[in-house]
Amino acid sequence: MSAQLFQAKPWGAPRKALRAGVLTLLCLATPCGLQAEPPLPPPIISQGARVLPVLASHGMVVAQEGTASKIGVEILRRGGNAIDAAVATGLALAVTLPRAGNLGGGGFMLVYIAKEKKTVVIDYREAAPADTPRDVFLTEAGDAVAARSRDSGLGVGVPGTVAGLSLALRKYGSGKFSLAELAAPAVTLARAGLEVSDDLADSLPLAQTRFKRWPSSARIFLHPDGTALSRGDRLVQTDLASVLEAIGRDGERAFYEGPVAEKIVASVRAAGGRMTVEDLKSYRAVERAPLHGSYRGYEIASVPPPSSGGVHIIELLNMLEGFPLASLGADSAATIHLLAEAMKLAYADRAEYLGDPDQVKIPVAGLISKAYAERLRAQISTARARPYAEIKPLDPAPYESDQTTHFSIVDHDGNAVSNTYTLNFSYGLGLVAEGTGILLNNELDDFAAKPGAPNAYGLTGGAANAPGPRKRPLSSMAPAMVFRDGELELVTGSPGGSRIITIVTEIILDIVDFGMNLAEATEAVRVHDQGLPDELQVERGLNADTIRLLQALGHKVVVHGAWGSAQSILRVNGVLMGAADTRQRETLAAGY
Ligand code: DON
Repeated sequence: MSAQLFQAKPWGAPRKALRAGVLTLLCLATPCGLQAEPPLPPPIISQGARVLPVLASHGMVVAQEGTASKIGVEILRRGGNAIDAAVATGLALAVTLPRAGNLGGGGFMLVYIAKEKKTVVIDYREAAPADTPRDVFLTEAGDAVAARSRDSGLGVGVPGTVAGLSLALRKYGSGKFSLAELAAPAVTLARAGLEVSDDLADSLPLAQTRFKRWPSSARIFLHPDGTALSRGDRLVQTDLASVLEAIGRDGERAFYEGPVAEKIVASVRAAGGRMTVEDLKSYRAVERAPLHGSYRGYEIASVPPPSSGGVHIIELLNMLEGFPLASLGADSAATIHLLAEAMKLAYADRAEYLGDPDQVKIPVAGLISKAYAERLRAQISTARARPYAEIKPLDPAPYESDQTTHFSIVDHDGNAVSNTYTLNFSYGLGLVAEGTGILLNNELDDFAAKPGAPNAYGLTGGAANAPGPRKRPLSSMAPAMVFRDGELELVTGSPGGSRIITIVTEIILDIVDFGMNLAEATEAVRVHDQGLPDELQVERGLNADTIRLLQALGHKVVVHGAWGSAQSILRVNGVLMGAADTRQRETLAAGY
């Protein structure tokens, strides 16, 4: 019954237990007869909520930048399906949100085809060039050098976005729109230029030093005196417009072969990288089977390796299913403690087992099994935080700002797209391939340069995620969907580096366990513990009493500024409810 997802307490037994407890207490004070239980409160849409989702009846796009959301909705209005809209939105974001939307990066798209009740994943993660030895980021003495993977051409993976969006359209588009038609709004915006928004004006100065290193980037994003474009200036991306036009006209080969590919290779090599035209020519987006799990009667779908996102969302939910979170309460110290202890166990597994499934064997089935979660759960103490040093994986048979981006789309027929893609850092490497307008990623920093050397998000790994020829680095991106009795209810995802996994998990918990509406779940304070660093990170806003209780349990609580940018849609009884994360400017849930 789909309405259950947004009722105050969606699942029966613990609610009854809680109510029985409350009734017992009340009966001590007042005469209690054998009264029928009061009816469940009506679904929360507006009653008493602090924040509300946006409503629509036909189709909806929720993205981190509003022009791109509107472009997607327009495609839906004109009879396009969710996949058509995803391609238009994805290409538009490459122009309007250049710090994360991209042609020069990669990501994961989870697609739901309503008619066939089928989910598929398009893996368009960047791949390492063929000439990538395992020690590519190490000195001769064997020390990891972060600058090689983060600030040089060696960090650039072969981009996957153009192949991914093209594959999605070819296989799952409605057939009503050509790639050229879907690229057209992006072409116009890039050529005519955009007025620099508050959001762009905030993010450009932070990447100024990187842009200055590359004249091809400085020409687009900086004034001649080296200062970043600011509020009210125009951002014109003429070369990018021409590339988008060529892709629309000639398809993905216009990107992976010929002059564009040659220019990408020349710029990467001039920046110290090893990419070749052959690497671009041989790149393919891959279709993979999604991972499925369940949580308190809901079905969860998310992406498989080379992202760790799906594995660890399911692993976390499996562990947490054994605890009565609803009665412990949202944001209580007891709930946050259990979350943190489960998170440390999941991240320990991530470091040990996860990598590119085409090159290493990953015990995925074990990691997402209920039985394995039960063994992990048995290690969790309700009374004490375990230091990460104590945590060993069992046998399962300095943060950048948020600069990946996620969008969620549902169309009139119930098809859906959950898409997360990225350049890794804000504006990626900061390098525009000369003459193309394409910002290039520094995604290969997501490899483990050597066992124990942390990437930019503090994540470590071992052999499974070591650099290697054509290998895809392990990601945390986690576009996800939640179903109830086979009906799609929730489409969600977020940027946030290593925190993506916990952001998405917490949104699911907030709705399923704590009865929040989608806007409340999106706004709710986030917590995160990945073991290394051994600290429980909490967003500003968690109350001081809860923090003190967590400290008493042994957690080193560190309060951070807000993180993530979740863009989600909840579909209940045919009504679409969208929530765009207010942690970033210019996010927009738009529908019709
Ligand atoms: O694939 C990954 O897991 C990272 N490269 C994502 C980076 C990210 O989310 C940055 N934004 N916060």
